Amino acid sequence: AKVSLTGIKPTGEPHLGNLIGAIRPALQLAEQYDSVYFIADYHALTTVRDPELLRHYSRSVAATWVAAGLDPRRTTFYVQSDVPEIFELNWVMSCVTGKGLMNRAHAYKAARDRNVEAGEEPDAGVNMGLYNYPVLMAVDILIMESDVVPVGRDQVQHVEYAADIAGSFNHLYGKSYSFKIPKAVVPEVGTGQTLPGLDGRKMSKSYDNTIPLFLPENKLKKLVRRIPTDSTPVEDPKDPDGSPVFQILEQFAPPSAADVVADTRKRLEQGGMGWGELKNVLFEVLNTELTPLRERYDALMEPGSELDTMLAEGAEQARERAGRVLTSVRKAVGISK
Ligand code: TYM
Repeated sequence: AKVSLTGIKPTGEPHLGNLIGAIRPALQLAEQYDSVYFIADYHALTTVRDPELLRHYSRSVAATWVAAGLDPRRTTFYVQSDVPEIFELNWVMSCVTGKGLMNRAHAYKAARDRNVEAGEEPDAGVNMGLYNYPVLMAVDILIMESDVVPVGRDQVQHVEYAADIAGSFNHLYGKSYSFKIPKAVVPEVGTGQTLPGLDGRKMSKSYDNTIPLFLPENKLKKLVRRIPTDSTPVEDPKDPDGSPVFQILEQFAPPSAADVVADTRKRLEQGGMGWGELKNVLFEVLNTELTPLRERYDALMEPGSELDTMLAEGAEQARERAGRVLTSVRKAVGISK
């Protein structure tokens, strides 16, 4: 079967963007693909400096996958750092990757632009982990022989880099071993854009504008109220697609709430629905959908829960897969006999 792989970086509490952009589409693909899903904890180390917090976020992302429906009997499910083969291959792949490619990576370029704008040294605060990030991510993808990588729009460049890096390796060593060339799969939701956050920009842990998935009800309600709206009066027609509240509703709503979404769109366009009422609709849909997930999540977060066994078994499976590829690569490049 073809392989579907994706990862989430534990840099904060899992949020709606992760669920909609990655977890849900990945779980859908798990039905037809050989699925491989993981927690990218060493990727988080480029920014998270508090060890207790990193441990907490890693467990939290793992619990989220399972609460959202990941079945560890059908998916290879692990924590990246439990698979040392990844870090050995990381070195090999960094030796076939052009530095110029890394210079053009979005995340690194954005950090430089921010520094230049602030009148700082261009590379101020940029560590080598951030700079090498795309190589490690390519390795995550390539070592599991991935065909498709379900990700949000913001990660597409990284998957293209993985394809490029695989190409460089294949060009040099393809007679002995060739990596599969992976492809990003971006979920077609709503307008096809990334999910907006509380301030209307892309929902992102780095903008601190996320809706975490497992908030208590009253906090969730408060956050929904904070999403910006304009001052169009209740009775006036409104553009649903221009409203982050509606976009979140449309992208999040499960098929069972399709009628609610269609009806809400109509009422906004015709006039007569105010932003306050729209926010109540969004809150209700979110709360109904997320409550059962929250209960499962809380149970998995308990120390000693079944999550530990799931991840231990997953790590074993992942190491076996990665080990096969690494053995071929070592041979291809001339490291082992
Ligand atoms: P991360 O942890 O930032 O995000 C995890 C996934 O969630 C998606 N996502 C969104 N989708 C739509 N709208 C949003 N507002 C939104 N915010 C986040 C992301 O696109 C992503 O799919 N580098 C990766 C982690 C990673 C990885 C990998 C992914 C490491 N190795 C190998 C795939 C394959 C990252 O930082 O994602």
